[in-house]
Amino acid sequence: MKNNPIGVFDSGLGGLTAVRELQRIMPGEDIIYFGDTGRVPYGSKGEETIIRYTKEDIEFLLKHSPKLIIAACGTASSVALPHLQDKYDIKVMGVLEGACKRATEVTENGRIGVIGTAGTIKSDKYAQIIKSIDPCLQVFSNACPMFVSLVECGYAESEAAKLIATDYLTPLKEAGVDTLILGCTHYPLLEGVISDIMGKEVTLLSPGAIAAKCAMEYLEKENMLSSKECGNSEFYVSDSVESFTQLGSIFLGNPIGSKVQKAEVAE
Ligand code: DGL
Repeated sequence: MKNNPIGVFDSGLGGLTAVRELQRIMPGEDIIYFGDTGRVPYGSKGEETIIRYTKEDIEFLLKHSPKLIIAACGTASSVALPHLQDKYDIKVMGVLEGACKRATEVTENGRIGVIGTAGTIKSDKYAQIIKSIDPCLQVFSNACPMFVSLVECGYAESEAAKLIATDYLTPLKEAGVDTLILGCTHYPLLEGVISDIMGKEVTLLSPGAIAAKCAMEYLEKENMLSSKECGNSEFYVSDSVESFTQLGSIFLGNPIGSKVQKAEVAE
């Protein structure tokens, strides 16, 4: 079991924010990644659809006998996991808990911002978890529905991204948040633009990267860390491999071309 892979999924590229950190902190781990690029975005879909997609993503990864699955998707974690999490023999970990806990630790003025997809913000899960840790904290949320398309289409550093981000983030800046959870795993790919608008004094938290650390703690505790020195990562997508390969390679900092394959998930 120790040397079985860690399964990671997202609707597209966003979950690579978790993979990058997993590769950095646990280089001996094998990783199987599934990006549901044929059905992205999840965040604008209804609850039933998000639950169905998430279930199919998990079932795809289970075929690779993972020792742990990370739902590296804020939408799947907040909308679907509460309905599915306990149904499997292995742990299926979301990205919310770690990010919320970290936000409560780093905020100094008690004002925390959360941005995410429409589905994530509607679920109100980030705010609920933060308030369950400390009811005195104030949470200011805003949905940023166009961010995922900007990332998936390679427009993360464009003038369009700056304009759209200014519109989405101004209410949070005006609310005086000192900590901002990038509550969709795609958003760290827009970190430069977001930081320019929010200002250097606002701490940005990436739930995917934080979940990677939570995964390491879990595997350590369960004595399930890989005994290998060098792990292997494989990537599966449900649509064309080309754009994922191109943007994914840039983001992960190494060419992943030969490691990306087309996968079929149920429709
Ligand atoms: N990266 C995902 C999230 O964290 C999915 C975004 C989407 O598919 O709408 O929410």
